[in-house]
Amino acid sequence: MPPPHTTGSRSVEAHLADTVEAFSRRFGRRPAYAAAAPGRVNLIGGHTDYNNGFVLPLAIDRHTLVVADRARAGSSTFWAIDLGEVASADLTAPRDVPTAGFARYPLGIARIFSEHGLAVPNLDLAVSGTVPIGAGLASSAALLAALATLFEQVVATRVDPMEKARWCRDAEHWFAGTPCGIMDPLIAILARPGHALLIDCRGPSATAVPLPAQNRVTVVIADTHHRRALAESLYAERRRECGRAASELGVPSLREADPAQVAASALGDPLRRRARHVVEENQRVLLAAAALKTGDLALLGELMFLSHTSLRDDFEVSCPELDTLVETAAGLRGTGEVIGARMTGGGFGGCAVILCRPDAVEPVSRQLRSAYLAAHGRPPTFFTTPAAGSAKTLTV
Ligand code: GLA
Repeated sequence: MPPPHTTGSRSVEAHLADTVEAFSRRFGRRPAYAAAAPGRVNLIGGHTDYNNGFVLPLAIDRHTLVVADRARAGSSTFWAIDLGEVASADLTAPRDVPTAGFARYPLGIARIFSEHGLAVPNLDLAVSGTVPIGAGLASSAALLAALATLFEQVVATRVDPMEKARWCRDAEHWFAGTPCGIMDPLIAILARPGHALLIDCRGPSATAVPLPAQNRVTVVIADTHHRRALAESLYAERRRECGRAASELGVPSLREADPAQVAASALGDPLRRRARHVVEENQRVLLAAAALKTGDLALLGELMFLSHTSLRDDFEVSCPELDTLVETAAGLRGTGEVIGARMTGGGFGGCAVILCRPDAVEPVSRQLRSAYLAAHGRPPTFFTTPAAGSAKTLTV
């Protein structure tokens, strides 16, 4: 029987060679520019980033790749290879960014560049990625970070990394219509191999935290393949609820509140539970980062399970598919095979992250798979990942 999980994503180099070839076939010449940026998995800190709180993500070895050359015509051609989507637009006048389709990403980030005095010329551009789309692994942040990194190369200007992350987040808000936080672009831009990043989203500021040695823990990502249509509007609703809770508590954001204050407040339901999740989750992230530093994996795992319970019951962003994975993983803690598990990303579907003993990845994946299959009638998929590096330009 083949193992139930995959290890090692397609390397950026192999992927680049194929993408350059595809570009050359379509446009009749080789691209001059290339950049890649990773997806991410968040170990802990769910729905805290847009509340100015703490998160602890790491970059995964799945990436989005962008290659480009200056356009020969007076307009740009954008080609999303994996989606089979082609669009034309004038990148030098990115005023009317469409509200749907792939072109809003290059146009959106080019518009932010131009608002900062960095005019991006027209480009023929092709994109291909290995980050599963809509799975809670930040595929759109990887796309925006890769585009921004490529544009920096084209306009021969380095943008401050924090600023660049804000530009990517703003592009997501204004042009992709998702009121997300700063976590996803920041980890894509600042990731360090072998490290998670403790991000204080209020600054923002970030500190790299080394992961334990590879023989102590393996990061497993389980994709439920469940995608909920209303996930984006429910995400926006949670964000509004947090804003309302903060204003009822009289604080600028939930970052400035603490559990005692929420407990003593007159907040009603569901705002009380939403706020309780955020203020407690912020504390869990700090404890988890400390546990990582001291190698206290049992504590880290415990905090991950508590995070999931809080996201499920207080924040209500989990779903039965994610709960099956995390609850089955919790049942394997006693054997020492599983260290911790929780949902990751925006929720309502997508992926769970499971920290496993390296020699237990296969039996744990098998057990999670059969529990999931029994409950939901179809299999999840699993892959393991090291903590990867950040967005970068590539030599074509
Ligand atoms: C999505 C958003 C992030 C973050 C997470 C929840 O992935 O893009 O900014 O809010 O949800 O932690």
